[in-house]
Amino acid sequence: MAKIVGALTSSHIPSIGNAISSGKQNDAYWKAFFAGYVPVVEWLDAEKPDVAIVVYNDHGLNFFLNNLPTFAVGAAQEYMTKDEGWGLPLFPPYKGYPEFSWHLIESLVEQEFDIAMCQELVVDHAFINPMRLFWPGQNPPPIRTIPVSVNTVQYPLPRPSRCYALGKAIGAAVASWPGDEKVVIIGTGGMSHQLDGERAGFINRKFDELCLEALVSEPEILARYSILELVREAGAQGAEIIMWLIARGALTGKVSKIHSSYHVPISNTAAGVLALANQ
Ligand code: DHB
Ligand code: FE
Repeated sequence: MAKIVGALTSSHIPSIGNAISSGKQNDAYWKAFFAGYVPVVEWLDAEKPDVAIVVYNDHGLNFFLNNLPTFAVGAAQEYMTKDEGWGLPLFPPYKGYPEFSWHLIESLVEQEFDIAMCQELVVDHAFINPMRLFWPGQNPPPIRTIPVSVNTVQYPLPRPSRCYALGKAIGAAVASWPGDEKVVIIGTGGMSHQLDGERAGFINRKFDELCLEALVSEPEILARYSILELVREAGAQGAEIIMWLIARGALTGKVSKIHSSYHVPISNTAAGVLALANQ
């Protein structure tokens, strides 16, 4: 039986990719941000998970307004990287795990999540940047991946309660996979930010701190918010925190915090990372 060893959640801000590529990790602007990832990288080095389920939101690269699934699961041999306009470099494709993907898809549909299934999928900064932060210098990282894409581009967005339930269903699917792989679930996006409109630049430290605490021991608090309430509290793009809720929902054991870090701002965003162990 496969086991989820932990959940890692992280911001995915495009400029992180450019900072890594130009070696700015020790610049004054970036130093504290990158320092926040060191304990997570060390945990991954020690734990060495075999499979990463990466829950992220596509930003109009693979899916566009004319064809936009609420939830989509990748089932490809590999996932090509592309850039939807941030000037980010391209990398060799991420390694897939089609057999495990199909098990996940079958289990999710059986659990009444009518997800889209993708035998072709290109991944954007929301997938790539957290992977570069968690496995620095390793492109691709030494892990097989299963992308799960969530619509945060076009309304209606899935309710936080639905996202939390999806996470639980992913947890159940992993537990019923006969292989003995170690699985890490990654959720990307957030924390509070709003990129456009009257509140452009909006950041809410109080709400972000609530998220960082609630996700450890009482995720139901966040699952009770509506999307509109999340947008009010976290900003229009801060609603990306639903990816963190999905990742947390997949942890079914005794959950403990390995590490968290919070840094304001990176670009227009409150940048956060949280690592949880699942025993
Ligand atoms: C920024 C943050 C995001 O989550 C994103 O997808 C694009 C840009 C930013 O803060 O610049
Ligand atoms: Fe984003």
